[in-house]
Amino acid sequence: PAPVGGFPAPTKHSQKAYSPFADFTSKWTRADARQLKAMSDPKAGPRENSMPEEYTMPTVSQDFPDMSNEKVWVWDTWPLTDGSANQYSVNGWEIIFSLVADRKLGFDERHVYAKIGYFYRKAGVAAKDRPANGGWTYGGLVFDEGVTGTIFPDQSYTHQTQWSGSARIDKGGRIKLFFTDVAFYRNADGSDRRPYDPRIALSTGNVHTSSKGVRLSGFGKVDDLLQADGKYYQTGEQNPYFNFRDPFTFEDPAYPGKTFMVFEGNSAYRRGDKSVCTQQDLGYAKGDPQAEDLETVRNSGATYQIGNVGLAVADNKNLTKWTFLPPILSANCVTDQTERPQIYMANGKYYLFTISHRSTFAAGIDGPEGVYGFVGDGIRSDYQPLNRGSGLALGSPTNLNYPTGTPFAPDANQHPGQFQAYSHYVMPNGEVQSFIDTNGTKGDFRRGGTLGPTVRLDIRGDSATVDRTYGDGGLGGYADIPANRTFGPRS
Ligand code: FRU
Repeated sequence: PAPVGGFPAPTKHSQKAYSPFADFTSKWTRADARQLKAMSDPKAGPRENSMPEEYTMPTVSQDFPDMSNEKVWVWDTWPLTDGSANQYSVNGWEIIFSLVADRKLGFDERHVYAKIGYFYRKAGVAAKDRPANGGWTYGGLVFDEGVTGTIFPDQSYTHQTQWSGSARIDKGGRIKLFFTDVAFYRNADGSDRRPYDPRIALSTGNVHTSSKGVRLSGFGKVDDLLQADGKYYQTGEQNPYFNFRDPFTFEDPAYPGKTFMVFEGNSAYRRGDKSVCTQQDLGYAKGDPQAEDLETVRNSGATYQIGNVGLAVADNKNLTKWTFLPPILSANCVTDQTERPQIYMANGKYYLFTISHRSTFAAGIDGPEGVYGFVGDGIRSDYQPLNRGSGLALGSPTNLNYPTGTPFAPDANQHPGQFQAYSHYVMPNGEVQSFIDTNGTKGDFRRGGTLGPTVRLDIRGDSATVDRTYGDGGLGGYADIPANRTFGPRS
């Protein structure tokens, strides 16, 4: 007989690689995701972390420094890379791109005002020798006003914003900025007049360096690369709350000459369709006494959470033309958001990392804010979720025995670190950067809007654990995004 309150076995995943062009989508199943709660300590008391220490980011101080010296709110951030995710300095300067917003706005209002800004700092300085806030200089916005709005056929938008992406430096030193170009069509009361329109886009520009700093130019034109197709990737017509964003491009040594892109999507069903998850999405072994009944899951509300990780392939060398391929991962009836996906290659393996919120998990599934990881033998594989089959690679300290609240009203019983990190990006050598959303708990919290301390994950086989020998007890420098490659004669 099943133990009361027990947990199922995770789904068996072979890690076997399929062709990137094949019609196979790996499933992050409910049986997998229920391992998250399985490893949470049911006896953890108020404000304690209930999750295993080895998968939890050490607690960040509420006295964190601010990387823009309070010029702008800062959240999702990405480095300048090549096709293998190496990070570059240019003529001796490290350069990063961030979503930024005016400090006059509340931090929670940021999404409809987001713009891409950039920062620079001298390369080759150890984190411990830098100012506490990382020592970045804010360079300003990448785009002139109006440029990113030009691609929308319906020009009657009320808000036009730039969301996350990634940046590539080519052999000639030009920067290709992939990002999400978004138009909102709102009524005066904030409701949608028509669904928002997110598009994956590209703009190319130049970087200029001097002894004093870095300036960007160009970025005057935008190519509209991809819009959700309704076949693999849900559209606004199927669900006005769909997710389609966050392009990350890379090359796969197994397919020389090709460039691929992963991005956040949703499975292409109509909102309300209950057939979005099947026995395969539940993923229970035959006879598992802890298996759920499919109809019960379908009637639980879990069918509104159908995140996926999309794949596309470039059709030309300029990377201006792309074709969708089937998603590489789906999380049907598991979570609605598999954000900022990236492919990380190490030890002959392919790791897929993606971020998810506690609040976007489906009914019956619970897990912390964090970065989730999957390992396989190719970019399209039967991905094995890391760490006891759960998928959790690095979570914020969280107590799953208590509700979450929100970043502007965290639950009184929550660990003060539950919103201390989001939008993690895994860098070479397993280093991970993220931004601080809220630090603290009810009655005593401070909003972030700046990058937190970089941490390091020891990534091997199907596990990822926090390296507590890195930095100070596992916490490295704030906003530390070091280059591991140099570009240009003055590097
Ligand atoms: C993650 C995220 C991204 C999106 C951006 C919008 O923090 O939701 O998926 O591009 O924030 O602000």
